[in-house]
Amino acid sequence: MNKAHEKCGGDEWRQVIREVILPWALRDTDLGDDVLEVGPGYGATTDVLSRAVPRLTSVEIDEELAAMLTDRYADVPSVEIVNGDATSLSYADDRFSGAACFTMLHHVPTIALQDQLFAEVARVLRPGAPLVASDSLGSEELKAHHEDDTYNPVDPASLPDRLAAAGFVDVNVRVNEFGWGVIARAAD
Ligand SMILES: C[S@@+](CC[C@H](N)C(=O)[O-])C[C@H]1O[C@@H](n2cnc3c(N)ncnc32)[C@H](O)[C@@H]1O
Repeated sequence: MNKAHEKCGGDEWRQVIREVILPWALRDTDLGDDVLEVGPGYGATTDVLSRAVPRLTSVEIDEELAAMLTDRYADVPSVEIVNGDATSLSYADDRFSGAACFTMLHHVPTIALQDQLFAEVARVLRPGAPLVASDSLGSEELKAHHEDDTYNPVDPASLPDRLAAAGFVDVNVRVNEFGWGVIARAAD
């Protein structure tokens, strides 16, 4: 990520995540006892999830960010930080009770890779387990914020078909003026 993303580690973004984005995206979803997060970044979402679920595995592709989070959670046995690529997960089928994917899909460079990520998450979820995801809507302002960085925003209207093709059912997409959220369940 470019330098402009360092504010994603700051108090203001953490407060927005904690008080606005996660409550809106999660609603009353029970993620269960063994939760996968993809794309934790600077850890704003990880900090909230780690207090809410019994066991959290967060997969981050950026080596430095993964190392930073590994240090931060070194004394928290219920949280495992993994340096890995969510388009190619190393976990067994049906492992996780729920999955979370916040503000990260626009960093996945192609639609094909985003769809591969969805399919991988579906594969490692137990049948019926929820995926909760959200991201910002595409805009010129956000495109400018991603100068020299990947910017591939998801069109929320594409999500029902794409998530169904990836192995999800009960796809529920919501959109507000800032972003989209989706809750879906891994197919049986
Ligand atoms: C903007 S940050 C979002 C961080 C956090 N979820 C939040 O909402 O504050 C997106 C993160 O996704 C990570 N990422 C991008 N592609 C990924 C992939 N294929 N697998 C795992 N992480 C990925 C990036 O390295 C970045 O740290």
